[in-house]
Amino acid sequence: MTKVKVPFNYLQFQFKNNAEIFKDWKKLIKTTDFTLGHKVLEFENKFSKYIGAKYCISTNNGTDALILSLKALGIKKGDEVITVCNSFYATTGAIVACGAIPVFVDCDDRYQIDINLIEEKINTKTKAILPVHWGGASPDMYKIKKLAKKFKLKILEDACMGIGAKIKNKSPGTFGDIGAYSMHPLKSLNVMGDGGMIVTNNKKLADWIKCYRNHGMINRDNNKIWGVNARLQPLQAVVAINQLKNLDRIIKIRNKNAKILDEGLKKLKKYIIVPERVKNFTETFALYMCLFKKRDKLKFFLEKNGVEVKIHYPKPLHLQEASRIYGYKKNSFLKAEKQCKYLLTLPVHQYLSKKQLMLMVKLIKQFYNENK
Ligand SMILES: Cc1ncc(COP(=O)(O)O)c(C=O)c1O
Repeated sequence: MTKVKVPFNYLQFQFKNNAEIFKDWKKLIKTTDFTLGHKVLEFENKFSKYIGAKYCISTNNGTDALILSLKALGIKKGDEVITVCNSFYATTGAIVACGAIPVFVDCDDRYQIDINLIEEKINTKTKAILPVHWGGASPDMYKIKKLAKKFKLKILEDACMGIGAKIKNKSPGTFGDIGAYSMHPLKSLNVMGDGGMIVTNNKKLADWIKCYRNHGMINRDNNKIWGVNARLQPLQAVVAINQLKNLDRIIKIRNKNAKILDEGLKKLKKYIIVPERVKNFTETFALYMCLFKKRDKLKFFLEKNGVEVKIHYPKPLHLQEASRIYGYKKNSFLKAEKQCKYLLTLPVHQYLSKKQLMLMVKLIKQFYNENK
């Protein structure tokens, strides 16, 4: 078996020393405050402050954060929600879980929703736009806001990969009516399991989501609406509070690492397209992706040489079997379909050394026979 020289997964390094978390878990266990309670509240207050929104409602994962948000916005059976065709399944799954119809739009050269293609999809059934901060980069939310205002549409931002990013000093998830986040293990803020958050500046929306998340209860003996149990676990809230302290440092290192990769790979223009890095946009680099010629062969070569790489994803959402009922065909969205063939995700996490980053660049050069 090949020895891993550049690992993709960083969790074993991230959670090597858990003394502080264990200390706080012990304190929590003594209180037996296991359903919502003081730790969940503390995290929600800290997160809303960090992200720059008035209200934060934590949830048990990012998918539920999206579903609850759509429900709060009144999205229901037969409504159309415009979204991008290159995201994780959960973005579309959340729309469908509300009985609504996902209307896909192609992506642009930065793998973000192509804003110029949104307007042509708007009709009388359209109720919302659901842009994704894909890979931890962002579409131009100012332009999306303008469009939504013109057509009186709601905006829910899938900022699941965007915690810690900035668009001109403003956080992803704070542009639209609601923002949804994930704390899944492969996200910039993660919690030894699942977790999610919703943020909004609208009190009415926040109150409804808070109530719906906890069975629709006002209190133990009174139920206002029929809701669900989508609560964040206090054990996870403890981890989230702990990890939030490190987040800005992590994002800084990831950006530094991405710059090293960008600079190395840009020298191989003939074979690799590095996406544009927009001025005043800070990415989280949840995924470091470029387009590579002979992608599949390169993947095999890198893996053979101990570099763990991934593809996000080889098949777009509109061509998945689950999308068959919507009637999309091959060549519906040329950019996303092309990217599925050429995109490769390289490790960029905060535990990589410069030597490991340079090794990746060196191997890629070697693959293309450009190692001069
Ligand atoms: C873009 C995007 N949306 C939604 C989700 C769903 O989040 P979760 O796994 O916490 O349910 C994820 C991550 O898994 C994601 O990357």
